[in-house]
Parts: sequence; structure tokens; C-alpha cells
Amino acid sequence: MRPSRLEVMKHLEPFIADQIPVLLRDPETNWQPSDFTPDLATDAGMEEVRALQAEAREVPDDIFNVLVGDMITEEALPTYASWIATLEGVDVSGEPRTAWGAWNRGWCGEENRHGDLLNRYLYLSGRVNMREVEVTVQNLIHDGGDTGNENDPYRTFVYTSFQEIATRVSHLNVAKGALNSGAERLHQLCSRIAGDEHRHARAYKLFFQKILEVDTDEALFALQDMMKKKITMPAMYMRERGADPGDTFRKFEVVARRTGINTPYDYVEILEHLMADWKIADISNLSGAAAKAQDYLCGLPDRYRKIIDRFKPVEDDDPVVFKWMDIPAPASR
Ligand SMILES: [Fe+2]
Ligand SMILES: [Fe+2]
Repeated sequence: MRPSRLEVMKHLEPFIADQIPVLLRDPETNWQPSDFTPDLATDAGMEEVRALQAEAREVPDDIFNVLVGDMITEEALPTYASWIATLEGVDVSGEPRTAWGAWNRGWCGEENRHGDLLNRYLYLSGRVNMREVEVTVQNLIHDGGDTGNENDPYRTFVYTSFQEIATRVSHLNVAKGALNSGAERLHQLCSRIAGDEHRHARAYKLFFQKILEVDTDEALFALQDMMKKKITMPAMYMRERGADPGDTFRKFEVVARRTGINTPYDYVEILEHLMADWKIADISNLSGAAAKAQDYLCGLPDRYRKIIDRFKPVEDDDPVVFKWMDIPAPASR
């Protein structure tokens, strides 16, 4: 008889408990947003703000808009935390109780710094209309998201494995764009956030790997199901003031794609990476249905590549306008 999801989650607990100190950093020695932003309690702080504003002005609009979209995505952390907190076998109330609960709280604590840091940089940059950004953040948390996870830990860890890598790619590419524009501080902080995402991806890939080891067929079905539905983006409902859910996300996708920060090819590369990491093609002794799922999965990257090559969108250079860039012309500085 197959184990239930809850039995598998409980079975993995001792392993997860052992891994937590390796996968997460001690909050007291970990980096904090203050390490990357001017200290306004010092005289030098205001000078640093001016330098920050000068470097931020050099970043091209499209890249800056992706940065804002990334910040909004990070700020909707309460939604993502709730996805994991409500999974079977995860109990987040208080003391460790379950290793899964401890993981979720520790992960949230680390993720929380990402939105804080990007928010602070953008606020200090003077380049965005913060009120419009804040409305967009609140709209996104209000609207939630649809991952197709079905409250299932197997599907959820496929999703989070994928998303941590996708977020890493985005932060890294914004960091590169910042460096090319001479925005050294922005480069450093986005690189640091990307480092966290990399470590988190390692964790979620490991969780799914363990599930694959103990409940192989069901894990493969979950992976297949998520790939058939396609991995949605956590900020899929992003909308500015007055817009419909998803309207702003579609604009965000355009600028992310045409800057090369996040493209359909990244989607395929992440899929290939996960398939290789989990050695999906090498799994043997599967049931007939699971072997079919394996075949489907192994053929997927090539199919995607062909589709992307064929239906490549023609990007134009027209400005994509976001309300959050709607600020009065700066006074002479
Ligand atoms: Fe993050
Ligand atoms: Fe993340």
C-alpha cells in the first residue's frame, strides 16, 4: 500500500530537522537590509543617500521596472508563507513542533529581508512613486495567486524548487544590469538576495528528492501534473491601482523578457536543470503509469524549445508605462 502524504512528511522529519542548520542561516549573524542601505543615524548617511540616488538614475527604465516588480513579488511573502503553512504535515504554531514548521518559519524570516531591502532601496532612490508601489503590493496580497499546488506537499515542493531558481535568475540579471549601469550598490544587494534564493532552491530540491526516494511513482505524477499545468508565477495577479488582476503582471513580463532578465528560455533551462538534478531520466523500476509520466517529462524540454523558437514574440521598443514610475520631474539636484 502506498504511504499517505502525511506519512511521508512525518517520515522525512528527522532528516529535515538535521538539514535545517545547513540550509538556513543564523538570524543573528545573517546579513540584514541595513548592511546594504545608508545609516541615517550618521552624518554620512545623507551623503550616501545622494550617491544611491545618483546611481539609481543611471539604471535604464526597463531594468528599474523589473526591479520594482521583483520587489512587489517579494513583498507578497504572506501569501507564499500561507501556501506552505497549510500543507499536510506542516505545523507552524510556535516552538519547533514539526521540523517542517521550523523550516517554514526560518525560510520566511530569510525571505522577509528581501522585500524589506528592495523596498528600502526603492524608497531611498527617489525614482518611484512609492504610494503606487504600495497599492500594488497590497493588491497582490489581497488577490493571492494560483499555483495549482492543491495543498499537496509534493506539488508544492516542485513549485518552490522551480520558483526559487526563477527568482534567483531574475535578481542575478537585475544585478548584472545594475553593474553595467554603474549602480554598484544595487548590484551588490541584488546579488546577495540571489545568493539566498540559490540556497533556498537547494533546500526545496532536496525536499523533493527525498520524496522521490520514498514515494517515487506519486512524486513523478505530481511533477508531471505541475508541468502539464505549467508553473505559474507567484505575482501572476499583480495589478496597479485601478487595473484588473494580472494586467500589471503582463506588462512586467514584457519588460522582463525584452531586457533578457526573465525569458521563456529560462523556463526551459530551469526545467532541464530540475530534471537533471533529480535524475528523472535514470529512475528505474517504475509502474507502467509512472514510466509514462517519466517519458512525458523527458520529452518536455525539447517540445518547449521548439514552441518557443516558433512563437517568439516580436518585442517593440515602446515604453511600457507603470503607475509606479509616475513621479514629478526631479528638481535640480
Ligand atoms: Fe526572495
Ligand atoms: Fe525565494
